[in-house]
Amino acid sequence: MITIQVNASTKYDVLVGKGLFARAGELTKEVLSPCRALILTDDHVAPLYANALSASLTAAGFVPEVYVVPHGEGSKSLGTLGALLEHLAEHKYTRTDAMFALGGGVVGDLCGFCASVYLRGIPFVQIPTTLLACVDSSVGGKTAVNLDAGKNLAGAFYQPRLVICDPDTLSSLPPEIFADSCAEVIKYGVINDRALFSMLEDGISPASEQIIARCVQNKRDVVEKDEFDTGMRQLLNLGHTVAHAIEKCSNFQISHGSAVAIGTVTIMRAAVAQGLCPTADLDELLSLTKQLGLPVSCDFGADELAKAALSDKKRAGGSITLVVPYAIGDSRLCKIPAADVGTWFAKGLA
Ligand SMILES: NC(=O)c1ccc[n+]([C@@H]2O[C@H](COP(=O)([O-])OP(=O)(O)OC[C@H]3O[C@@H](n4cnc5c(N)ncnc54)[C@H](O)[C@@H]3O)[C@@H](O)[C@H]2O)c1
Ligand SMILES: [Zn+2]
Repeated sequence: MITIQVNASTKYDVLVGKGLFARAGELTKEVLSPCRALILTDDHVAPLYANALSASLTAAGFVPEVYVVPHGEGSKSLGTLGALLEHLAEHKYTRTDAMFALGGGVVGDLCGFCASVYLRGIPFVQIPTTLLACVDSSVGGKTAVNLDAGKNLAGAFYQPRLVICDPDTLSSLPPEIFADSCAEVIKYGVINDRALFSMLEDGISPASEQIIARCVQNKRDVVEKDEFDTGMRQLLNLGHTVAHAIEKCSNFQISHGSAVAIGTVTIMRAAVAQGLCPTADLDELLSLTKQLGLPVSCDFGADELAKAALSDKKRAGGSITLVVPYAIGDSRLCKIPAADVGTWFAKGLA
């Protein structure tokens, strides 16, 4: 087992290791006294893992109840949140009870936000079962639901008490969902971890304890420096300005991970075109991205993507912050005039 300590406003551990899922009850007992436990999960994950988690929590003295929402982004809604809050209140959960997020980023974001507002905050534990949730969404305390006006527009910074990440649970993931998350793993390498990138090139599985732990350490380091996203946490948005535009232009037919893969390649190619990044690094990125089953190009034009990008919430006034790779393992924040976004994209598209 690898333990990663996160020293955010709340201090907690991220435990990464095969076989930890079965020990979730005893591991949680080390940080939370036995209490009632609402396990929030979705209808794909419930039949696979909910009974086993309930059994493990029961054996450790907790009193679990399973609450299942439909799978998919649609469950990150005010409607689902409202029903969940009413359920907690109706069943008289108290501030010493806890919630458990069992599933991917959808369940994790919804559970965290619900835990942050129910009775002004009750403890919650993350048990991520997608690679994306293991390496990204379960760590760092960003929680949210979507509004009609856009994704993640209502949320809170609220840290979990514990994250239990068992790579064995990733074996049931559909291959395309697994490949999608690999884009975020590559992202950490390009941001500031050349060694992680090389491990992936050497064929170490993105689902290995080693790789997951390394991604979590990277995210932890950024979150500890900028928990509330006022500066360097934006580095984690590498490839995402282009990605969000691609998702929007495709009417969300292109998945987030695929869009991030294309976005990361696009922004590095734009950096290469301006002499900021070596061509050899772009070749390596193209090769690893393809090796992990992800796309590297799309059919949208620079103007179309720029227009979509500028309606994104990350735009601040007349400028936009891009994350620019100067090399694999050396990405930097770069503020550019909004008017230049189209030119950057044009340089980056193949
Ligand atoms: N909070 C953050 O910092 C943060 C960071 C990145 C992404 N996110 C959010 O995360 C969400 C995406 O997360 P995701 O990619 O995990 O999607 P997801 O939660 O929708 O899971 C993807 C699919 O995999 C299924 N699934 C989950 N675990 C499984 C398993 N072990 N076996 C079989 N099927 C399984 C789910 O039912 C779902 O259908 C988005 O809403 C995004 O906004 C949040
Ligand atoms: Zn992402």
